[in-house]
Amino acid sequence: MPLRLVVLISGTGTLLQALLDAIQAGTLDAAVVAVGADGAAEGLVRAEKLGIDTFVLPLRKGMDRSAWDEELARRVGAYDPDLVISAGFMKIVGPAFLAVFSGRFINTHPALLPSFPGAHGVRDALAAGVKVTGCTVFAVDAGVDTGPIIAQESVAVLPDDDEETLHERIKTVERRLLVEVVRKWRKNG
Ligand code: GAR
Repeated sequence: MPLRLVVLISGTGTLLQALLDAIQAGTLDAAVVAVGADGAAEGLVRAEKLGIDTFVLPLRKGMDRSAWDEELARRVGAYDPDLVISAGFMKIVGPAFLAVFSGRFINTHPALLPSFPGAHGVRDALAAGVKVTGCTVFAVDAGVDTGPIIAQESVAVLPDDDEETLHERIKTVERRLLVEVVRKWRKNG
């Protein structure tokens, strides 16, 4: 049976696309059974085009965060995933979600954790003046980008890099790394 994936996104969904491409190419024995987002996300269109179920669960200002967290756990759980992937999902999940999915919930981050956690990993690395940064795939725990590291790869910072050029080069590596991690997960599962 292919690995059942639920992918959570907030943005363009190019990491999601890398998973879909590998599945379509027959190099990843998995199926994206649903894609969830916390708002309008370009990446949802990629899924809809392929007839994959999507759902949107916004976390609005002033909203009860634990109710959102429980609802997210319920929505994702309805698809009975083997693995949940945060692929550019810019929200921190809470205890209700982790109670169900801890150990089968991974995230990918555009920096070499534990350096530069948070929402601006690329910007923060540039501001710090590092010459090497990269990306990290890790198991999500209750902290912000603190969970056990599964895989990392470095990317050189070039002298004329800005946030956009550097992030784009990181994402090229990140897409391959994420697919490799999921492939290994399948093998070892
Ligand atoms: C990726 O670089 C991912 O690491 C980052 O968002 C990008 C999503 O790209 N996530 C974070 O920064 C989480 N802290 P995509 O929308 O093109 O897949």
